[in-house]
Amino acid sequence: MPDVIRAEKLVYSYSGNDRRSLNGFSLSVRQGEFLALLGHNGSGKSTLARHLNALLEVQQGELTVAFLNAKDPGNVWKIRERTGMVFQNPDNQFVSSVVGEDLAFGPRNFGVPEEEIPGRIRRALAAVDMSGYETHSTHLLSGGQKQRIAIAGVLASEPDILIFDEVTSMLDPEGRRDVLDTVARLHEEGKTVILISHYIEEAVGADRVALIHDGQLLAAGTPREMLTDLDLLRRTGLTPPVPVRLYYDLRSRGLQLPFCPLTCEELEDLLCRLN
Ligand SMILES: Nc1ncnc2c1ncn2[C@@H]1O[C@H](COP(=O)(O)OP(=O)(O)OP(=O)(O)O)[C@@H](O)[C@H]1O
Ligand SMILES: [Mg+2]
Repeated sequence: MPDVIRAEKLVYSYSGNDRRSLNGFSLSVRQGEFLALLGHNGSGKSTLARHLNALLEVQQGELTVAFLNAKDPGNVWKIRERTGMVFQNPDNQFVSSVVGEDLAFGPRNFGVPEEEIPGRIRRALAAVDMSGYETHSTHLLSGGQKQRIAIAGVLASEPDILIFDEVTSMLDPEGRRDVLDTVARLHEEGKTVILISHYIEEAVGADRVALIHDGQLLAAGTPREMLTDLDLLRRTGLTPPVPVRLYYDLRSRGLQLPFCPLTCEELEDLLCRLN
């Protein structure tokens, strides 16, 4: 698959802030890929996300998004249409308190003919497993439902690339699971997905994991390569997944398991094989 996103040596400083929030960040993302971007607080994740949605202008470096040059001001609107972004707090993303009206906002904004909009809303609600919620009030929904409606709001504009910036951090475990299932399903249906998080466990199901640190790409590879490498995680300031920590703890106490498990299921299998 071709690279749908290509960032080369991006440098970005916010006005009034001497620090470089991106400091030579380079990364390519293939079309249809599910990429998890992990980094500690302030590492530059959201600054990168805002570049991918053309909310911030490229100051230095090169960037193509959805095969469009992000430095060309004529592409800004097209990039916003092809790239949907969902943020941490669903309440801040609603423009109407009625679900159907909220979902109509994006397509209307992009000039989609009025007769096409109900169909788009129906498909978007079905994609997040919330069919029939058109007339519901957004403030009566649970956190997980709100976040899924926020995702539907983005889907109604039919973007190719979806960027999720810490979308589960305000949710309870059930809401978090529903939202992550929705993200995984959208990827299976062909969307390019970038899942930004500092919950390392959320990256396990990604095709590839990229680690960002101080505005630079520290490393990228399979979840297994990235998430079982203690040194790398320590340098990124991230805590390894529980099974990985347990593997190394057991090893330091003399119990050698055949490989480092990434999930609780793998850990269980390994432990069962011991007797
Ligand atoms: N609007 C702003 N004005 C000035 N500095 C900013 C602004 N937004 C972010 N920064 C700075 O840029 C750096 C990167 O911030 P960014 O929000 O991209 O990090 P992040 O990885 O998304 O962090 P978090 O995990 O807390 O969301 C930080 O040092 C931050 O203080
Ligand atoms: Mg952020």
